[in-house]
Amino acid sequence: MTEQAIEQAAAILSRAKRIVVFTGAGISTESGIPDFRSPGGVWDRFDPTEFTYQRFLSSEDARRKYWSLSKLFYEPLVSANPNPGHDAVVALERWGRLDCIVTQNIDGLHQRAGSSPDRVIELHGTALSVSCLSCRKRHSREEVQARVEAGEEVPRCEGCGGIMKPDTISFGQPMPERETAEAFRRAENCDLCWVIGSSLVVTPAAHVPVAAVNAGAKLIILNGSETPLDEAADVVLRGKAGEVAPRLIERARALAGETA
Ligand code: APR
Repeated sequence: MTEQAIEQAAAILSRAKRIVVFTGAGISTESGIPDFRSPGGVWDRFDPTEFTYQRFLSSEDARRKYWSLSKLFYEPLVSANPNPGHDAVVALERWGRLDCIVTQNIDGLHQRAGSSPDRVIELHGTALSVSCLSCRKRHSREEVQARVEAGEEVPRCEGCGGIMKPDTISFGQPMPERETAEAFRRAENCDLCWVIGSSLVVTPAAHVPVAAVNAGAKLIILNGSETPLDEAADVVLRGKAGEVAPRLIERARALAGETA
């Protein structure tokens, strides 16, 4: 990645007033949470068809397998801490330039880093809570995970006996309507969409940056590898979120005449 690219991106950032930051698993890899499609990522090690919503609903055995495998996903989340990539997004909010964060991540690290929860739109839900699919009663993931660890292989709702599932959106599961509509509304009203750490291959999430560009916003993509939207970006930064994002904020603030 060139210094020129950083300079171009910082110039755009310094002029933007309503920024939508769109994040994927790549912003959390430096926190120790593997992403999905990099070499050695989650889908290199697990079969995604084991994690579809239909499979989960299909049988008690499928749910038993889901809970035993999902333990492997959940553990890195519990021990993860926000990294300088998340911190840079907090700095953007404190600078007064962030409209909101649209994240595909389920790890809660934006909120843990200090981003205002009401500015974080979790398109794919969260792994930090579990809900009953019948009565919608919500539980902390910690509480339910402890029940699984204690031998309740397929936890059931204590209130109604219904099937319980982590509040993540699995393949084949309907997207959260309110969050999805709000994400597109904010993208269509921003002046810059800054993508950080996403392969931009999963829809409808990956359409959010497209909606921003179609509405006239600038697009910056900071990602470790190529994405299908690179051609549409004003600037592509090929690098690590934790290294590049803080540099970008610092340079943009200098260009805006505000020392960091
Ligand atoms: N800095 C910048 N980019 C990174 C870093 C990093 N430290 N680490 C990884 N990346 C990039 C990778 O190059 C990859 O292009 O982040 C991207 C992560 O892409 P995916 O693994 O596909 O993750 P994501 O885009 O969030 O996936 C979207 O797919 O499986 C579903 O529901 C899941 O929300 C997820 C969705």
